[in-house]
Amino acid sequence: MRSNVTQIDHPLAASKLSILRAKTTAPDEFRRNLQELSIILLTEATRAWTTRDIEIETPLKKCAGKILAGPVVIVPILRAGLGMIDGMSRFLPEANVGHVGIYRDEKSLRPTTYFCRLPSELSAAQVVLVDPMLATGHSACAALELLKKNGATKIQFITLVACEPGIAQVQSQHPDVQIITAAVDPELNESGYIVPGLGDAGDRYFGTL
Ligand code: URA
Repeated sequence: MRSNVTQIDHPLAASKLSILRAKTTAPDEFRRNLQELSIILLTEATRAWTTRDIEIETPLKKCAGKILAGPVVIVPILRAGLGMIDGMSRFLPEANVGHVGIYRDEKSLRPTTYFCRLPSELSAAQVVLVDPMLATGHSACAALELLKKNGATKIQFITLVACEPGIAQVQSQHPDVQIITAAVDPELNESGYIVPGLGDAGDRYFGTL
């Protein structure tokens, strides 16, 4: 079932995730740790990206080097995904950023798209969809569908906390998409929150609790 899921196993990621999970973590600390954990996960995602050989000259000698071969587009799912972009854009400033706005209807828990603005070069790009929580998987699947309709072919999905039902949903509809996460939690509660999870990532990030 977990064929295309990469769960990062790293002490730094684990400790940052614990800070995010703790209900006593203040918004400023929450923001900083969310940004930093996002960068760690992005580093894992980049592992398989293609590079191009270049020659560079150090102050002492010419030597071989590598740079990323193609364009990168990062797409946060609004609103909580914006928090992940803050760190990632500092780490990978050459990446263009698209935005997808999908809200979850509180009753049906189904996704409704209210905003979509994507860069034009999606078909040539390595596209990274980001959302801190992979809960029901409905928003992620709707966003992945939008990305594919707009030409994206190489897509990864980075999320801080995934859960089993969300992973199953994404894998059933988008088996080609690699999911990179810091945790896989067992379940969702009746309101669609991941348990144990970390609560509402957007509210905690923006201090709107
Ligand atoms: N969105 C969140 O912010 N948290 C959850 O647990 C599920 C969806």
